[in-house]
Amino acid sequence: MRHVKMTEHNTLLLDWYDRHHRDLPWRISPPMAAQGQLADPYHVWLSEVMLQQTTVQAVKPYFQKFLARWPTVVDLANAPTEEVMAAWAGLGYYARARNLKKCAEAVAAQHNGIFPDTEEGLRALPGIGDYTSAAVAAIAFNRQAAVVDGNVERVITRLFAITDALPGAKPLIKAKVAMITPKDRPGDFAQAMMDLGATICTPRRPACALCPFKDHCEALKKHDPEHFPVKAAKKAKPVRLGAAFVALDGQNRILLRKRDDKGLLGGMTEVPTTEWTARIDGDHTDASAPMVADWQPCGVITHVFTHFELRLSVFRADNIAANASNHGWWEPLANLDEQALPTVMKKAITQAIPEAFKAAKG
Ligand code: ADE
Repeated sequence: MRHVKMTEHNTLLLDWYDRHHRDLPWRISPPMAAQGQLADPYHVWLSEVMLQQTTVQAVKPYFQKFLARWPTVVDLANAPTEEVMAAWAGLGYYARARNLKKCAEAVAAQHNGIFPDTEEGLRALPGIGDYTSAAVAAIAFNRQAAVVDGNVERVITRLFAITDALPGAKPLIKAKVAMITPKDRPGDFAQAMMDLGATICTPRRPACALCPFKDHCEALKKHDPEHFPVKAAKKAKPVRLGAAFVALDGQNRILLRKRDDKGLLGGMTEVPTTEWTARIDGDHTDASAPMVADWQPCGVITHVFTHFELRLSVFRADNIAANASNHGWWEPLANLDEQALPTVMKKAITQAIPEAFKAAKG
């Protein structure tokens, strides 16, 4: 077998990136980067936090909205947490938004609003783990950091035909990435790996003929790139059940409440629900409803969280007296878009009031 020099990998990839990189709002394009321009660390950090478990397409409008509203990390640090949570609503994984705010506060208070410029310094900030510290160090500060996300895992396990299963294979993958990450242009290299994973080295039907690594890819030599990465068998997700109650007063207002700050969807807004338990009975309109009312069943919505699938039976009642509940508040339906409602709650409300969010927009 021909010996492949590691420098060859990064040259092939960077040449490809120069021609085929995606233009993304948080990115400095390769010609500008070649002139020494670096991306703003605040932009890189914000985008990288948003991009974890979320697609580029979904992130773009949120990224623009955050920057327009909070142009610097100090502005974000000074923003009320509720406003940040509301602006995050719909992106999912809400612990990220709470940590984002804490991290901004730490950068503002302990670092004069200037991000640390090393992987270690970044790693010491709240909510910044191995991935984000490496990504920001490489992209914003040109540090030779090994950046590994899901896209990069796929590229690397194929390139080197790594048969060890994930997640156990992570240290080996990281070592391979470190081996081929160049001193020169490490940020472009990291982003090139991600672009390659997102556009060419896709999970299904990868476009190997267009790949800069096509002559070096061990998985392609074996004719089965789709076989990689090998993943440990997943346990089936447990199902949890509950009921959600959409209560309306006579004036187009809906009963909302705030979830506890700790735990899943902490600090976000919701309609009243029962506990989310694993019970299998469908009888929810008992003492667990927020008030006695003529609760009408509207059907079931499903939402998949990281560790379980939730099925909520949705009930609606109209013309509730405003003083019938001493929890939460009555919010005009016209204001629903400004609430920190996670997607699962938007689904539940839409199930009971199909025009709810259209009405808020119009
Ligand atoms: N996914 C996560 N970070 C990314 C980046 N900087 N560019 C493209 N895709 C990404």
